Amino acid sequence: MSPPAIDTAAIRRAVEVLRRGGIVALPTETVYGLAADAEHGDAVRKLFAAKGRPADHPVIVHVSGADAFDEWAIEVPDAAHVLARAFWPGPLTLVLKRSARAGDIVTGGQDTVGLRAPAHPWMRAVLHAFGGALAAPSANSFGRVSPTTAQHVIADLGVKPRGKVDLVVDGGACPVGIESTIVDLSSETPKLLRPGAITRVQLQAAIGHQVADAGALSPRASGRLEKHYAPHTPLTLMPADALAALLSKPGGARLAVLAPMSALEDCRAEVTLAIAAAESADDYARMLYSSLPRLDTSGAHRLLVAAPPAGPQWEAIHDRLRRAQAGATNE
Ligand code: TXA
Ligand code: MG
Repeated sequence: MSPPAIDTAAIRRAVEVLRRGGIVALPTETVYGLAADAEHGDAVRKLFAAKGRPADHPVIVHVSGADAFDEWAIEVPDAAHVLARAFWPGPLTLVLKRSARAGDIVTGGQDTVGLRAPAHPWMRAVLHAFGGALAAPSANSFGRVSPTTAQHVIADLGVKPRGKVDLVVDGGACPVGIESTIVDLSSETPKLLRPGAITRVQLQAAIGHQVADAGALSPRASGRLEKHYAPHTPLTLMPADALAALLSKPGGARLAVLAPMSALEDCRAEVTLAIAAAESADDYARMLYSSLPRLDTSGAHRLLVAAPPAGPQWEAIHDRLRRAQAGATNE
């Protein structure tokens, strides 16, 4: 699953558009980001408008590495250096006390800034050639699943003149498939704001300190709002054996299903699409955001998803599925 060779012409075009204050969808190892110059107020405002995202939400500032700490943050704790050494470049965002350079436009007016050094070679090439930092939320309309291919971005946001984005750079499917882990290091106790591919156990091992759950008191991280990552069709998460029992009965609503192969074997219900769930958490993460829209558009009245196994490496998957369930049923 390594990304395709870098298309240098595409990188050059992306940098030109970014320098002009445009917005560009770019591949990262997690999901596609919608990038703008992090120090260009109008460009970042365009990002929010394209996504339909409230303007007071903070956005992750993408940098090339820990050298950027002193530019974008103050009072950087040792834990930030330790985590950056262990996991950067990679799918980890660190929330730190902001410096003057981190304007309200990227912090949503909070006193912290989220920094991430992405690992995807195409994104790194753009950061290197651009020379500055890039604000980049996931390249989806607000409340929808994050895109893991350029085609997803084109289908959702579209390219100008008809669509909303100045340029979409196609660097293949994202190798991780779900958004970065977010750790808040801006106060005494490290807090996990969003689980991701870097697990809580890995974080704790690196810093030698517990990483607590963020309380309900971080409402402005939009990734923490329920009703997010939402398909249109109501989605129900249930144990695999209950799901298998439901499928074995004929009749009922038209169903679309994401479940282990074993739960799909004895199927007499009307199923519009059945996707066999991957067995490892890494493979599951890679397939999740492309599977949800396929299930959602299959003509089903209900989406059924078998609850994945327990264990630290599955925490991020459980989190995204819970949000998909909360979002869809409340819509
Ligand atoms: O993997 C990722 O993180 C992707 C790629 C493109 O890098 N980006 C991404 O961005 O998922 P976005 O904006 O869709 O989600 C970032 C989350 C949001 O929930 C935002 O509120 C939170 O990070 N966030 C950003 N800065 C923050 C801060 N200073 N304090 C708390 N939360 C913050
Ligand atoms: Mg997002």
